[in-house]
Amino acid sequence: MELGLKGKVVVVTGGGRGIGKTIALEFAKEGSHIAVCGRTPETLEATAKEATTMGVRTLAVRTDITKEAEVVSFMERVVTEFGHVDILVNNAAGSEGTMPIESVAVEKWTSAFATTPLGAVLCCREAVKSMLPRKEGVIINISSIRGKIGHPQMLPYASAKAGLESFTRSLAQGLGRSGIRVNAVVVGAVSNQQEDPKIIQRLTARAALQGKTLDQYIQEKLRDVPIGRLVESQEVADLTLFLASARSGAITGQSINCDGGRVQW
Ligand SMILES: NC(=O)c1ccc[n+]([C@@H]2O[C@H](COP(=O)([O-])OP(=O)(O)OC[C@H]3O[C@@H](n4cnc5c(N)ncnc54)[C@H](OP(=O)(O)O)[C@@H]3O)[C@@H](O)[C@H]2O)c1
Repeated sequence: MELGLKGKVVVVTGGGRGIGKTIALEFAKEGSHIAVCGRTPETLEATAKEATTMGVRTLAVRTDITKEAEVVSFMERVVTEFGHVDILVNNAAGSEGTMPIESVAVEKWTSAFATTPLGAVLCCREAVKSMLPRKEGVIINISSIRGKIGHPQMLPYASAKAGLESFTRSLAQGLGRSGIRVNAVVVGAVSNQQEDPKIIQRLTARAALQGKTLDQYIQEKLRDVPIGRLVESQEVADLTLFLASARSGAITGQSINCDGGRVQW
């Protein structure tokens, strides 16, 4: 399917690794110019280098999305470099770990909410400044099924993602007549979890908390997934690109699950 994304200017936050990297490179394959941000310059440069080999223009800027001035400066650089922003993918997020309510320090709540939704809100505010005069643009917020169904041990993360989805709906209502669409991709457990040592460590700790091995924990998770497997980053990218394209012109304000059927609303 021709997506018509050639020449579009796409910003991907957290584009240096994981799902964000896959999304950025998929846009580059379609001929979009990409700007990536995150806190680790080396990983951003690697994404940009790979995208450049596909013949597109790239920009990699060290940016902590929880810092307002850094977000403003990043978006200004994107506009200086490319002229405007067509598509913003708010992918960057952290994890505050797994713990019950009585052990969640205030700092965990503030850091979760500083990234999601506030970091995404700041990115939207700055990107929209470039979209409004042109009366076109697309924003895609990468959320998690935890924002819908919650998680007893991931309270800040799940609450922050729920906030991101509520923000998505409100923003879509406000910007629809200005030609800007806003949607959320609601992701289930992704297979890149099994490649990143840090994530494996996190999941092993989460499993141990429930008295399980990592394998038992993953198999148990899969029991509730109708397709019986984890989601691929590529599948998240495919949905993101579809939502970024004019092929989804009537879709806005939605939280669309990419989770193998785990959540059915
Ligand atoms: N993997 C899954 O199973 C899964 C499931 C559901 C939803 N999701 C969602 O999918 C998205 C990507 O997940 P992932 O698994 O690819 O995560 P990941 O591998 O941990 O990557 C997160 C990215 O966000 C960046 N980031 C984090 N905090 C940042 C900040 N303050 N400022 C700028 N960049 C920041 C990181 O770069 P730096 O550290 O260099 O800043 C990194 O590039 C997230 O929104 C996540 O919640 C993932």
